[in-house]
Amino acid sequence: MNKPKIIVTRKWPAAVEAELQKEFDVDLNQSDKPMTAAELKAALGRCDAFCPTVSDSVNADVLAAEPLRAKIIGSYGVGFNHIDLEAAKSRGLVVTNTPEVLTDCTADLAMTLMLMVARRAGEGERHVRNGQWTGWRPTHMMGAKVTGKVLGLIGFGRIARAMAHKAHHGFGMKIIFNDPFPPPAEVMNAFRAESRPTVEDVLREADFVSLHCPGGKETHHLLNKARLMMMKPGAYLINTARGDVVETAALVEALRKGVIAGAGLDVYEGEPKVSADLIGMENVVLLPHLGSASTETRVAMGMRVLENLRLYFGGKAPRDRVV
Ligand code: DGY
Repeated sequence: MNKPKIIVTRKWPAAVEAELQKEFDVDLNQSDKPMTAAELKAALGRCDAFCPTVSDSVNADVLAAEPLRAKIIGSYGVGFNHIDLEAAKSRGLVVTNTPEVLTDCTADLAMTLMLMVARRAGEGERHVRNGQWTGWRPTHMMGAKVTGKVLGLIGFGRIARAMAHKAHHGFGMKIIFNDPFPPPAEVMNAFRAESRPTVEDVLREADFVSLHCPGGKETHHLLNKARLMMMKPGAYLINTARGDVVETAALVEALRKGVIAGAGLDVYEGEPKVSADLIGMENVVLLPHLGSASTETRVAMGMRVLENLRLYFGGKAPRDRVV
């Protein structure tokens, strides 16, 4: 029997590519050059399983591909706001993602951003490398203490809970959160987390606000000007979720006016473009969407796609079916 044909849109870790090749007839993207919309569309007509990632826009036009040969979209990444799920459903496509395996690394990166921005680590690094450091002194580069402060989580899914665990047990932080679907009491009790009825309640109370809601229409510009202005004076914003959850122009204004003390960002509206205003600010830590970027996690994500494909082509239900 012919092996199912798989098209992978970007370079994946070598260990995963090797495993995929053992079981499937695979077209890899060794150059790692992003595929154009026309190439993504054409790929859907040439394979049984299409494997994009979070930076490929699999929109309604791409999904209108004719002829359509693909039966499953095995997306590499936990977020799926880059795929038009309604359009995929209407074409009879199964869609899977890669949850759980990136939870800890993404939470670790949110912690990294929180610590970096509070303790001015990016700024300090630049200071040393630029040869500006003249020596220790009592008032040099004072930042904000993290231990014991209030961490406010917007969204309380897996990654937020992993961050709550690290922040509460490692840094003695008080955890508050808002989530339309709060978890059972035993989950909250594990880090003495307190639910707040609205996003605004979290913003008014937290010293650090970390975003963990999914991207998409419902959360587009959730942190708009009005909400940013509600943040506690001197608070910090951390975003490892999706760039368009924050209205960039309003964030720049809040930072410029000193409404908030700083921001730690891993994701951006319209990335990989990053606002020149943000780049010019010392009190902002900017990382290039590195949340899941440890070797262990990126391999695990690929293996999770493989597992979903294996199950699907073996006639079983894929583990991480989204649609
Ligand atoms: C995801 O998986 O959605 C992240 O944004 C990249 O790991």
